[in-house]
Amino acid sequence: MAVTKAVIPAAGLGTRFLPATKATPKEMLPVVDKPAIQYVVEEAARAGLDDVLLVTGRNKKPLEDHFDRMVELEETLAAKGDKDKLALVQQASAIATVHYVRQGDPRGLGHAVLAAAQHVGDEPFAVLLGDDLIDARDPLLETMIAVQEREGGSVVALMEVPRESVSLYGCAAVEDATGDVVRITGLIEKPAVDEAPSNLAVIGRYVLSPTVFAVLRATPPGRGGEIQLTDALQELISMEPVHGVVFRGRRYDTGDRLDYLKAVVQLAADRDDLGPPLLEWLREWLPGRP
Ligand code: UTP
Repeated sequence: MAVTKAVIPAAGLGTRFLPATKATPKEMLPVVDKPAIQYVVEEAARAGLDDVLLVTGRNKKPLEDHFDRMVELEETLAAKGDKDKLALVQQASAIATVHYVRQGDPRGLGHAVLAAAQHVGDEPFAVLLGDDLIDARDPLLETMIAVQEREGGSVVALMEVPRESVSLYGCAAVEDATGDVVRITGLIEKPAVDEAPSNLAVIGRYVLSPTVFAVLRATPPGRGGEIQLTDALQELISMEPVHGVVFRGRRYDTGDRLDYLKAVVQLAADRDDLGPPLLEWLREWLPGRP
């Protein structure tokens, strides 16, 4: 069955980014001049998924407003004849059909995905984490969807990370780590470095079989008292194939302050309008730093 729906969990508390995330979801933080979540919705649409479900929590209004029309602002810009800015305002509401569901208590990523069960129904679907950006020049989701259509079951995005960082992520045990598509034999959330089965970290893209919903309903709270998607996927491995696609492109984690700053600088540096003056300024500024 073809994958047509994307689920984007955006209900986390974003505590690593307080106080910016006190009244605003972290997915709304601007990366250069677009909120992080717009990049993610654009990525889903590029992969052919134009039915997007945002799982929201407290502070959901900015998210809803962003993907809605903003008639007053549009009229003001139209009256001024400012076509470029008008197009920017209209862009977000035209990318995809965006639906919303509330998670209620933020009881973990697995719990957020479970909130999508009714909307998704009995078909495979994609999950894209709203604070994890994949560079538009390095396609990943399209490959994952193709693997799911070929192999069935579920597909998880993996990335090689330095061994000492593996305890920051979910970690995969795989059958044969030489290729870009691997069969996953085990998954563990944030393992201690000496217990990690590999240096392959789970990153925020999944194409999941609907069987995951039944598994999530039976998954008890795990690490941090949260219902972990990784724990449900570990269970799923005994029921159906779970593959990994090893991503070797550019990824930006906007939920972490340092990675967020790196993302803004890298994406701005690549832009025709901002890149040249930004790089010129950095070259002048950096040598004077201790
Ligand atoms: P994180 O692990 O980054 O957690 O969530 P968090 O709570 O958002 O942020 P910190 O660690 O407190 O700073 C990964 C993704 O899962 C979503 C988040 O919005 C983010 O996109 N999430 C997490 C939910 O939707 N619900 C949850 O209960 C937890």
